Amino acid sequence: MSAPHSFHVKSFGCQMNVYDGQRMAELLEADGLTAAADADAADLVVLNTCHIREKAAEKVYSDIGRLKREDGSSPMIAVAGCVAQAEGAEIPRRARAVDIVVGPQAYHRLPALVAAAARGESAIDTDMPAESKFAALPGRRRVGPSAFLTVQEGCDKFCTYCVVPYTRGAEISRPFAAVLDEAKALADTGAREISLLGQNVNAWGDGDRGLHDLIEAIALIPSIARIRYTTSHPNDMAEGLIAAHRDVEKLMPFLHLPVQSGSDRVLKAMNRSHDAAAYLRLIERVRAARPDIAISGDFIVGFPGETEAEFAQTLALVEAVGHAQAFSFKYSPRPGTPAATMADQLPAAVMDERLQRLQALLNAQQHAFNRASVGRRTEVLIERTGKLPGQKLGKSPWLQSVHLQTEAAIGDIVAVDIVTAGPNSVGGAEVVKAAA
Ligand code: 5AD
Ligand code: SF4
Repeated sequence: MSAPHSFHVKSFGCQMNVYDGQRMAELLEADGLTAAADADAADLVVLNTCHIREKAAEKVYSDIGRLKREDGSSPMIAVAGCVAQAEGAEIPRRARAVDIVVGPQAYHRLPALVAAAARGESAIDTDMPAESKFAALPGRRRVGPSAFLTVQEGCDKFCTYCVVPYTRGAEISRPFAAVLDEAKALADTGAREISLLGQNVNAWGDGDRGLHDLIEAIALIPSIARIRYTTSHPNDMAEGLIAAHRDVEKLMPFLHLPVQSGSDRVLKAMNRSHDAAAYLRLIERVRAARPDIAISGDFIVGFPGETEAEFAQTLALVEAVGHAQAFSFKYSPRPGTPAATMADQLPAAVMDERLQRLQALLNAQQHAFNRASVGRRTEVLIERTGKLPGQKLGKSPWLQSVHLQTEAAIGDIVAVDIVTAGPNSVGGAEVVKAAA
């Protein structure tokens, strides 16, 4: 196979994969390749995969099959991400079209793997090297008004349903100075908002410093107007971080804080190491610091042994908190995790029915949150153009999608009155400045 000249990266799953996908693209560009418009036009296709739920691996194999061209040829194919980490050498055994397998902690070696594959050599790297990939990656290029920045990776919590501790490895934090440098580089490329990413982002630390110190430092970069962070664990929600929601104006009033279940029995079986009451107390403290904060979460329905009464406790917790938005999933047994071999795995039909009820409640609450914001005067970060002439789409501080008519450019922050509310977005009217 000849050396590729163009590439396309396709990312699945979480925001961290989106970030990794951007960094792989930057790396390949720095190596002299050019970005192709789509997979069909690329000599090299990187599938940046997710392993968190469902038959993720099966999906990868069908995606690989679909990369075959009409003339029977295939591009060079690299499987990256968490399926690569979990399945390793099994992938090219099952799908001979795959040339490269590279895990989430080894993708800085992608150019060398591409060169090896071009020479017809085996190119599999699922190492978790001691040296950080970040130091070996090239600088950031233009990323748009809202940029992701991975500051923490991995997880030591070992929730019994979750593959992350196995695919992403142990918790590691990037050094303060390295993160701050990258934030400044993102600001230089035009970013107005930075979302700090980590599987347990609020466990980030460097010496005495915690996440709130990082947020305060990034807030000092003049052109950065907004800071967010995700995903957090309830047990790592430090006092300083809660206080930052009161004290740091650029920190947006939004908190994604997964709780997974409202049942203490289920939470214990999940090894979450907090109960429902602790979560509720935490939300109270966060709201005391920032009363208008929008709370988001993740939920799993149908964990092994979950009874109807336990599921009802999840509904009750959602009602008590009033989540402004949330993600909810059917429990999916992940190979190698303790929960996968627990007794009393629930039938799919029970999970489907519970998921529908939970999502109906969450959707109603999201709609109610949107309706309650009608009449608010706020600011919107313009992110892209909309479908209608003159329409732009952006985000409110509470992470609502806002559509409005404006001449403002992508990356501008405009004053807006929220005037309409739908289930998934709100409509805004730009505040016209009075003539002087
Ligand atoms: N089944 C269903 N949902 C899961 N999640 C993680 N592992 C599983 C699983 N095995 C969900 C959790 C987590 C989110 C990222 O994905 O809700 O917070
Ligand atoms: Fe998975 Fe739990 Fe770690 Fe989150 S905290 S990544 S759900 S093990």
